[in-house]
Amino acid sequence: MDRIEGMSDHGSASGGSAGQRKLPSGADLSTASREELVRLGSALDGVTIEHREDPFPVPGTRAEKRTERKVAQWFFIAALAGLGFLAAYLFLPFEYAPPGPGSRHLLYQLYTPIIGVLFGLTVFAIGAGTITYAKDLLPHETAVQERHIGGSAEVDRLTTTAILADSAATSHIGRRSMIKRAAALGGGVFGIGLGVFSLGGLVRNPWKGGDRAALWVTPWASYNGEPVFLRYDSEQVTLARPEDLAAGSIATVFPYKRSWSEQQAHDALRASDSPVMLIRLHPEQATQVIQRKGQVDFHYGDYYAYSKICTHLGCPASLYESQDARLLCPCHQSQFNMLEYAKPIFGPATRALPQLHIAVNDEGYFYAKGDFIEPIGPAFWERRS
Ligand code: FES
Repeated sequence: MDRIEGMSDHGSASGGSAGQRKLPSGADLSTASREELVRLGSALDGVTIEHREDPFPVPGTRAEKRTERKVAQWFFIAALAGLGFLAAYLFLPFEYAPPGPGSRHLLYQLYTPIIGVLFGLTVFAIGAGTITYAKDLLPHETAVQERHIGGSAEVDRLTTTAILADSAATSHIGRRSMIKRAAALGGGVFGIGLGVFSLGGLVRNPWKGGDRAALWVTPWASYNGEPVFLRYDSEQVTLARPEDLAAGSIATVFPYKRSWSEQQAHDALRASDSPVMLIRLHPEQATQVIQRKGQVDFHYGDYYAYSKICTHLGCPASLYESQDARLLCPCHQSQFNMLEYAKPIFGPATRALPQLHIAVNDEGYFYAKGDFIEPIGPAFWERRS
């Protein structure tokens, strides 16, 4: 110890380059204890410790245990909130559910607030536990250090490392097993939650169901030959008929099967990929129409049906300018030419609106002759059209 003190006494405690100070030899440094290196580092850096006090110099007192419990309870709260977050994230239904009788719409609305509050509580409790530990259990120390210019020498790096190790040792974390376990539990659960949260989206398989996966099919699909009628969004089911539309007008219609229960019909009415625009062109416009290859018989006379979901970012596109037969999406002003298979002619959309194959049955009602032959809405990597 004398050896180190002697060296630091001769050094310039004002800091700066190690070359301007008398430094201990390599042999002295390698045999110095942590405490000696701490004192040497402090002196070389011009650090004066004005005051240092261990709040609990005698280990195991009641006051110390009480403080430990106070810290540990924050980490336990973090662990509980973290577990709640994990459970909510994994098991609460997150899929959109339309409002209606017996619907899980309320649960769907609460999903994001619940996981947000639980995640926030986890972070808050970990922060509160750490701050409480630092304030109530770490040694209270007041140190003053002079500033110096330039990089640190080898001796500075060694002594700084020792000071950091000393901080860990004097924090007495080693003897506070309850806090260690609680912090490990809270931090561990939080870490697992973060991992599940970041990977959760990758674990769920959007292609579950193969060709009938949600991105490929819409409620317009019929697998048993049952006709899917075009209905309006009204309380009572009202099916669309050709005579409902005047020339140059449009109507938004939704799928409807007669075999559907009230709930199924309601769900189809509120499904995001259901809305279709039924358009009746002016007779003189109908003669100019350019049909898309493979879809020449998708229309019924002057009536055309296209998905209402914009192929740019999925807004409902239904501002129809009947004189020019152009459809405008209000979100980013994409325009679609309804005289050329709803091809985009202006704005950011790059693909035509998918067309629904329609016909009229013996009763005079419109029905879909099949689902869309391409996915509706914005692009995604696996899309084939
Ligand atoms: S969503 Fe329609 S133009 Fe952007």
